[in-house]
Amino acid sequence: MKKGYVIAIDGPAASGKSTTAKLLAARLEYVYIDSGAMYRACALAALQNKIGLQERKKIKSMLDQIDIQIKYHPKGNKIILNGEDVSKRIRKADITKLSSEIAVIDIVRKKMVELQRKIGKDGAVIMDGRDIGTVVFPNADFKFFMIADIKTRAKRRWLEAKEKGEDLSLESIEKELRWRDENDANRKISPLKRAKDAIDIDTSDMSISEQVDFLYKIINQGK
Ligand code: DC
Repeated sequence: MKKGYVIAIDGPAASGKSTTAKLLAARLEYVYIDSGAMYRACALAALQNKIGLQERKKIKSMLDQIDIQIKYHPKGNKIILNGEDVSKRIRKADITKLSSEIAVIDIVRKKMVELQRKIGKDGAVIMDGRDIGTVVFPNADFKFFMIADIKTRAKRRWLEAKEKGEDLSLESIEKELRWRDENDANRKISPLKRAKDAIDIDTSDMSISEQVDFLYKIINQGK
């Protein structure tokens, strides 16, 4: 198989993107980049600096100084924001909501896309997000668009939360997912959208290994 492909995986929250991307990257010995974690890190930076989403000048200077590093770790990449490991903090509910809100801001997206393109420039990369196949890498070698029904997605997030010891109701998770789907798909710039040339996968009734195999087979056949 040719090494060095750029693989884009887009789709709504909890559709199976990151779990699949992570395992696929390990199998292909590719770099895995979770672009959502970068928006989450931005949201946390704004929160830490008490910057409101309307304060454009302050956001601009925050972005000029921001340092987001993604460090490989066998149990899942570490996200380092301005030298601090924020991998766990950025998964909390307040940042989940704020990341979707900050992601509508043009200068935030411009900066993130710039960083994402830099990371992906040498290929051998799998990046997941909302606009990877449409905006970040419109010429990606492979583009996948993952979906799953809302009940399945809510259940997945509920199980993940339970494993982390968080006691959340299925209803509250479903409500949060619906809100985010709406916000991410209806923003003006780079909304969550299927690229015209993306391959669709509905993961509602698929196991994780089936999802990984599905993508692997396609990539293994080459372009
Ligand atoms: O993938 P995630 O759920 O961790 O992403 C958090 C938020 O970041 C998501 O609700 C919208 C935003 N995001 C984005 O706008 N573009 C991306 N490529 C990835 C995430």
